[in-house]
Amino acid sequence: EKDGYSSFMLKEINEQPSAVEQTLMGRLDQHGNLMLDELRIDESILRAVDKIVVVACGTAAYAGQVAKYAIEHWCRIPTEVELAHEFRYRDPIVNEKTLVVAFSQSGETMDTLMAVRHAREQGAKVVSICNTNGSTIPRESDAVIYTHAGPEIAVASTKAFLSQIAAAYLLGLYLAQLRGTKFADEVRDVLRELQEVPAKIQSVLDAADEVKDLARRMSTAESVLFLGRHVGYPVALEGALKLKEIAYIHAEGFAAGELKHGPIALVEEGQPVFVIVPSPRGRDSLHAKVVSNIQEVRARGAITIVIAEEGDDAVVPYANEVIRVPQTPVLLAPLLTTVPLQLFACELADSKGYDVDQPRNLAKSVTVE
Ligand code: M6R
Repeated sequence: EKDGYSSFMLKEINEQPSAVEQTLMGRLDQHGNLMLDELRIDESILRAVDKIVVVACGTAAYAGQVAKYAIEHWCRIPTEVELAHEFRYRDPIVNEKTLVVAFSQSGETMDTLMAVRHAREQGAKVVSICNTNGSTIPRESDAVIYTHAGPEIAVASTKAFLSQIAAAYLLGLYLAQLRGTKFADEVRDVLRELQEVPAKIQSVLDAADEVKDLARRMSTAESVLFLGRHVGYPVALEGALKLKEIAYIHAEGFAAGELKHGPIALVEEGQPVFVIVPSPRGRDSLHAKVVSNIQEVRARGAITIVIAEEGDDAVVPYANEVIRVPQTPVLLAPLLTTVPLQLFACELADSKGYDVDQPRNLAKSVTVE
């Protein structure tokens, strides 16, 4: 049932083009408008939402962090992302105008479920983004957007992460369309770009051998750092989590802008540092900032492994290794840049002889507190 792959994780990484495609499928009506029929919450309530709070744990929370950038940009609705186990034990400001979005692959994570209950008790509407039909979190939500990634068996979440981002983007675009924000006209453009993502993920997968070779060469690393800005920041966190979970290597993700505020002290000769580089075609000076971050760590002896768009030559002088991803709009980049990080962790763990699918101390779904 692993279809010839050495692990479920590797199989699921390779299923990501279709996981994202299935999640996006059949969303446009004949006029090119986005449909989200399953969002069975009164439109007047959705128009009145003045705050979105994402609750989730682990990888699902990182998908939420990615979605925050897109939702705030498209909808102009303040969006917070909170770990479900933190949310439920404080006194969060949640009311009838709050839309809580619970991300959960399994739909059974106890802390996320408790956060959902807590939010509804205070009058908030809850939408869940879930991969498991009929599981508890969707049953207790006001509406559910299912990710159609297919069953995820490996403990380390991969295809669910990309599908959660895709589903959350649909939600964000739908709200922008409904509320007629200045971005609403661009919804179709983004949807068109999204349709191209599965083929682009496939092209990242087609170059997997390079990443695998790198992973085998780095299998003695004791610590690996990951840097990113903007949507690249949660991608860095996710890359670090994958490596901790299955390869048992100490790994940390940082917002690249934080380097000088502390983390750069960790960098010494030979320290591997992954850097997720935003598109040079994006707005602002984000790309230039990240390139100078690569320079800064390289000057202190880091081995820099740079994930950059095809055609981005500015990174080359400072990169020990460059992993290329196809060009795509900035907000969609996490759907591509995450993939090499998943492959890296999977291959590195495998080369150490670890059980990639069943890492020590972890369960696929955390149904206890
Ligand atoms: O089923 P859920 O999406 O609610 O699970 C949340 C986390 O437990 C999960 O993402 C965990 O962090 C994974 N092991 C990450 O690979």
